[in-house]
Amino acid sequence: MLNSEEATSWLINYQQRIESVLDNILPKADVHPTHLHQAMRYSTLGAGKRIRPSLVYATGKALGVDLDVLDRPAAALELIHVYSLVHDDLPAMDDDDLRRGKPTCHIAFDEATAILVGDALPVLALQLLSEPNQENLSAKQRLAIINVLSIAAGSYGMVGGQALDLSSTGKVLTEPELENMHRYKTGALISAGIQIAIICAQQINTEKSKNLEYYAQCIGLAFQLRDDILDVEGDTVTLGKRQGADQALNKATYPAILGLSATREKTQYLYQQAIEALADFGESAAHLRYIADFIVVRLK
Ligand code: IPE
Ligand code: IPE
Ligand code: MG
Ligand code: MG
Ligand code: MG
Repeated sequence: MLNSEEATSWLINYQQRIESVLDNILPKADVHPTHLHQAMRYSTLGAGKRIRPSLVYATGKALGVDLDVLDRPAAALELIHVYSLVHDDLPAMDDDDLRRGKPTCHIAFDEATAILVGDALPVLALQLLSEPNQENLSAKQRLAIINVLSIAAGSYGMVGGQALDLSSTGKVLTEPELENMHRYKTGALISAGIQIAIICAQQINTEKSKNLEYYAQCIGLAFQLRDDILDVEGDTVTLGKRQGADQALNKATYPAILGLSATREKTQYLYQQAIEALADFGESAAHLRYIADFIVVRLK
């Protein structure tokens, strides 16, 4: 097991690495149309926990994949995630004014620009993966990654989950309904991170890949449970987004429907399941174990 100093330093490494990949990939702020490009950079760079790209790198580490191979897939995933945040904050959705410790995109720029940022980021992700002459991933692998990301991002995944979230507002869902919504809106993109690293691996047996996918499902759900808990008991400055936003909108969340203590128990159960799923990986999965840990104890 890593000590906490080691663990923090490689997580920071992954975060810095993806920051620099994204910085290079995004259109420069002085390139026409500058207002849009500035907004894309504003929303993507400078903050964010980078959990999804870190999961791609950590899964790659467990499977012996070079980090260089994973840079573009990890960046594509983060671009899709950032777009989901920009749209999630719009007045028509959660109507939030604070994200990653600064004004949301539609407040810092304007609503139309925030919509366009959300249009441009996911297609930039596709451009990134579909560009010819990439040495370290075959066309077949890149197509498979695009397929995984499009399913996870679309109406069978994140966007579908967002639709469920909006239509559930003010309603008392059953636990299976809540779980289903969370698996779609948050779990899908998190699982995609693990799946794309699996695609990048040269060889992986079915058993290992099943275990990794189960790990992903557990931490994906745990991630949103922790997010729901932090809306109740976090603080705005640490979170970088407004505490109490779910309660103000009467969102269907785990704590609202099942209570905080049942939500904590479920989070803990999912964490344990995730760790058990990694049993056969030994030391190679140390980073994945740490990410699971981080997800359930995080304060932001
Ligand atoms: C927030 O995601 C949206 C959810 C799916 C709960 P993160 O908590 O990963 O946000 P950033 O990227 O760190 O800002
Ligand atoms: C959003 O869930 C999940 C997304 C697909 C963006 P939330 O609405 O709970 O995310 P936060 O709390 O605003 O980050
Ligand atoms: Mg939302
Ligand atoms: Mg929100
Ligand atoms: Mg939330």
